[in-house]
Amino acid sequence: MLADSYGRVATDLRISLTDRCNLRCTYCMPPEGLDWLPAPTMLTDDELIRLIGIAVGTLGITEVRFTGGEPLLRRGLVDIVSRTAALAPRPEISLTTNGIGLARLAAPLREAGLDRINVSLDTLDAATFVRLAKRDRLADVLAGLAAAASAGIAPVKVNAVLLHGINDHEAVDLLQFCLDHGYHMRFIEQMPLDAQHGWRREDMVTADEILAALSAKYTLDPDDPDARGSAPAETFLIDGGPATVGVIGSVTRPFCAACDRVRLTADGQVRNCLFARQESDLRTPLRDGATDEEIADLWRRAVAAKLPGHGINDPGFLQPSRPMSAIGG
Ligand code: 5AD
Ligand code: SF4
Repeated sequence: MLADSYGRVATDLRISLTDRCNLRCTYCMPPEGLDWLPAPTMLTDDELIRLIGIAVGTLGITEVRFTGGEPLLRRGLVDIVSRTAALAPRPEISLTTNGIGLARLAAPLREAGLDRINVSLDTLDAATFVRLAKRDRLADVLAGLAAAASAGIAPVKVNAVLLHGINDHEAVDLLQFCLDHGYHMRFIEQMPLDAQHGWRREDMVTADEILAALSAKYTLDPDDPDARGSAPAETFLIDGGPATVGVIGSVTRPFCAACDRVRLTADGQVRNCLFARQESDLRTPLRDGATDEEIADLWRRAVAAKLPGHGINDPGFLQPSRPMSAIGG
């Protein structure tokens, strides 16, 4: 088991498959991009599968989510998914993507064993998309979403980050779009994880603001609070249900006490929190011939050291040195 000293057990492994991305969302990356990880430091497909095998075989991981950067940019993704699906016990397999390229990859991914998907969509307006993500790719994202649904990946979840003065007027439109298409909408508070370190609390659209905006059109009632479990989203029934909307108040309504996640970066570092300031290197021992049990032990120790919370609201908070795109969302 991957237990920490606060009684939490990590069962959900999030793996960044690449730190590269074909978008430049302002809350994530500068327009010029970043210095990408050098190729030799990236875990190979075989190394990844070995680590995932240890995670599900001996460490109690039951859910594997592939993220990035943009995971669809990872050559071999379909193969990585099918090899993950062949592990015993088979974990649930999900993907967090910006949707570009999904039109082509949704069906093969589904066939390979992908169970669930989260697609980022912050706006339905092409010009706003360019302003926010610096690339004219809204149509690709919408096509990707449609392909995921028709490939039978369920549920299809849509993630949106709202930014004041850019897309904060679109909360209702985004939700209605999802209701019309049978996607599950989730709004996420902007977190201090951008590479530029430009996050400012005053700029953040809060969970309260999101709920107020949605309440202009819909009646929202908290879903069964027990159903939240370790899921970060608070869910609300829309107009009596059954449709729901999720709001992830990572900053104003932290859920660290129920966190069941652990992360692996594309270069083989375990992170016990998005906001951790330390990482545990698995790549070096892996390449130096460590046994499965030795690697499992390093992994256990990395999770055991997990802090109680992200500390964003503490006066001395320091942003992690690596941005979200290198950590995995
Ligand atoms: N704050 C909140 N969400 C973020 N994402 C990326 N950067 C941030 C941030 N700073 C979102 C993406 C995607 C998921 C991986 O996390 O939009 O939906
Ligand atoms: Fe790419 Fe996701 Fe970052 Fe946007 S938020 S630039 S899609 S990694």
